Amino acid sequence: MKYGNIKITVVGLGYVGLPLASALSNYYDVVGYDTSKKKILELNKGIDSTNQLKYLEIKNKRLMFTNNPSEIKESNLVIVTVPTPVDKKNIPDISLLKNACKTIGINLKKKTIIVFESTVYPGMTEEICRKEIEKYSKLKWKKDFNLGYSPERINPGDKIHKLENITKVISADDDKTLQFLKKVYGKIIKKLHLAESIKVAEAAKIIENTQRDINIAFVNELSVIFSKLNINIYDVLKAAETKWNFLKFEPGLVGGHCIGVDPYYLTYKAKQIGYAPKIILSGRKLNDNMTRYLYLKFLNLLKRKNLNKKKNILLLGITFKENCNDYRNSKPLEFYKLLSKHKNFKVDVHDPFVDKREIKKYLNLKIIRTPAKNKYDAVVLLVKHHQYNKLNYKKLEQFGKKDFIVFDIKNTFFKKFKKDNIFTI
Ligand SMILES: NC(=O)c1ccc[n+]([C@@H]2O[C@H](COP(=O)([O-])OP(=O)(O)OC[C@H]3O[C@@H](n4cnc5c(N)ncnc54)[C@H](O)[C@@H]3O)[C@@H](O)[C@H]2O)c1
Repeated sequence: MKYGNIKITVVGLGYVGLPLASALSNYYDVVGYDTSKKKILELNKGIDSTNQLKYLEIKNKRLMFTNNPSEIKESNLVIVTVPTPVDKKNIPDISLLKNACKTIGINLKKKTIIVFESTVYPGMTEEICRKEIEKYSKLKWKKDFNLGYSPERINPGDKIHKLENITKVISADDDKTLQFLKKVYGKIIKKLHLAESIKVAEAAKIIENTQRDINIAFVNELSVIFSKLNINIYDVLKAAETKWNFLKFEPGLVGGHCIGVDPYYLTYKAKQIGYAPKIILSGRKLNDNMTRYLYLKFLNLLKRKNLNKKKNILLLGITFKENCNDYRNSKPLEFYKLLSKHKNFKVDVHDPFVDKREIKKYLNLKIIRTPAKNKYDAVVLLVKHHQYNKLNYKKLEQFGKKDFIVFDIKNTFFKKFKKDNIFTI
């Protein structure tokens, strides 16, 4: 295969698939395929609802967008970036991934390479995806088509760690395929790590986020203990971090579709093979309970101000993390839902990133444009969006009533303003 003649289809054009398709289209002909009609309509107009790409990056001449899966027939490389969530019981929901494999299978021609970038548990590419593709294509793995796995590490909202400058792990089912992927990915990414097998690459991805989840759970647990001891967790961390081998993690809400989800893929597989994970699930449980813990802590703070009276509350930030517009599986949103059930609370939500029309349509949640002056009994900082980092105390004070309090779960205002009415976690 000549490298200039490669045609690539990227299946699933979300946070992972779209930047990848755009970067590859600087060197290859790329088709972006997505099942969402709305997404394709938007992309054809040069609009990226994930806010990752600029108009010109979408409107590349060698990049086309379609809802028509038959384009896969023309490709020699297919890259799969569809979601891999969990269901209500935290069991991996691989229905979207299986659907994508079915579509690929139906449209597969011989000699195609299929690379999965969706996060999966070790073994899923070769055991589940391979079977689905064989079933619908009637072709044979390793004879008629090859597989690869290359986990994605992008971090929405992060302007430093981007696709092009972070090391990317690649793997394949044979060396020839691996060398092919090295050339293709090597065009857009400076540093590649060639993993020993597909299973190794799958496992590496899943433990990256699991490690982070466990470490955050540890500092979250510390924050609960130190709060009871009346010691500021952030002051403790600042002191402990002066030791050369102390790991830096902050307490907080773990949501989104990676760190809060991926550990369940690993524990699911572990249980399947007869091992009951201990550390991973207890970390997960602790992080999941943090929203309720912070809610109760906030109620406690408000008790000083007579809870039987109506209270106006302003929430700053509703997305699952800072500087991005994604509110799926967002813990700040969970916090909002707990507050809004309280009969005495009137809650206003502000977030500079979310699509106000979309969130109103799907969750019936109205996001205010500007907080009213002198209105609020309490302000809660839930997400460290850069706009909030820039606020000065005078501005913050304008929103509150005379004796307002601030609950700052990110230690931003608390650290900066050092005021008696600001509390942290
Ligand atoms: N978002 C991140 O920061 C991130 C980082 C690393 C890894 N991942 C992993 O990458 C994968 C994709 O995540 P994402 O955040 O880009 O998801 P996303 O929800 O932003 O986008 C997925 C896209 O896939 C489309 N889709 C769903 N089923 C499809 C199908 N059968 N065929 C074609 N298109 C289909 C959806 O319409 C959507 O546009 C997941 O496994 C996730 O865990 C995500």
